[in-house]
Amino acid sequence: MGRRGGGGPGRVLIAEAIALAERRSRRAKGAEVRALVVGASGGIGQALALRLEADGAQVTRLSRRADGLDLTDEAIVSRLLGGLEGGYDRIWVATGALELNGVPPEKALRALDPAAMAAQFALNAIGPALVLKHALRLMPRDRPTAFAALSARVGSIGDNRLGGWHGYRAAKAALNQLMHTAAIEVARSHPQAVVVCLHPGTVETALTRKYAGGHPTVTPEAAAGHLLSVLDGLGPAESGGFFDWQGKAIPW
Ligand SMILES: NC(=O)c1ccc[n+]([C@@H]2O[C@H](COP(=O)([O-])OP(=O)(O)OC[C@H]3O[C@@H](n4cnc5c(N)ncnc54)[C@H](OP(=O)(O)O)[C@@H]3O)[C@@H](O)[C@H]2O)c1
Repeated sequence: MGRRGGGGPGRVLIAEAIALAERRSRRAKGAEVRALVVGASGGIGQALALRLEADGAQVTRLSRRADGLDLTDEAIVSRLLGGLEGGYDRIWVATGALELNGVPPEKALRALDPAAMAAQFALNAIGPALVLKHALRLMPRDRPTAFAALSARVGSIGDNRLGGWHGYRAAKAALNQLMHTAAIEVARSHPQAVVVCLHPGTVETALTRKYAGGHPTVTPEAAAGHLLSVLDGLGPAESGGFFDWQGKAIPW
């Protein structure tokens, strides 16, 4: 995945080398990692927070259930994130929904409903973008830091052979574009930052209960382990990308 932004390829390589060295040195020094998990009440969010803690990180959890953090309300996002102090090494956005307000994902064009589609965009695309807008000040400029939003492989346009799930797919595709666009801008002020969209695999959570079908699933704990190691392996050169739980780039 090519890196963009000012400064040319030389600057990119230097920034990447510095970021890698910093990551190694922080780990070697046993420096405490600070992580923020937005959507820590969800299946994957909860597992991410627990796993991060088990690995020794200091974890801040935010969720709609516990804190009233509704991502569709910018005033709330701004107020709750505004109350945090900066210096996060990892920010995870693990919010999202496939079925919203009782409306199941569409099986055909005739099921398209403008209000349901707008709700999909508000939560799955605009919500994480608002988190990044208000969380950027929490990300250090002078050392490695990462912001990962959980997307979904079904948001890939290039990989879409089945159709259906119009609103969810389109909202995740929009999320991918928003994160890619933001990553270009973030690289200018935070040269060691990684901003990515990750696909967690098909995970046994409330979201998939009715929809996993015959797909093989993994537990949230296993998914969290995969996601954390994928993010640990990414540097500024991969910022703006869309990766699966194995760290493989997914076509847009
Ligand atoms: N599970 C899978 O197989 C799978 C596959 C591909 C992608 N993903 C993506 O992974 C992410 C997490 O999914 P999951 O499986 O962990 O789902 P989940 O268990 O249903 O959790 C969903 C989370 O989203 C939060 N949420 C929903 N609406 C919200 C709102 N308006 N404002 C703030 N938070 C809101 C929930 O908060 P409250 O419970 O506090 O209301 C909960 O924390 C989603 O983006 C999903 O699209 C999951």
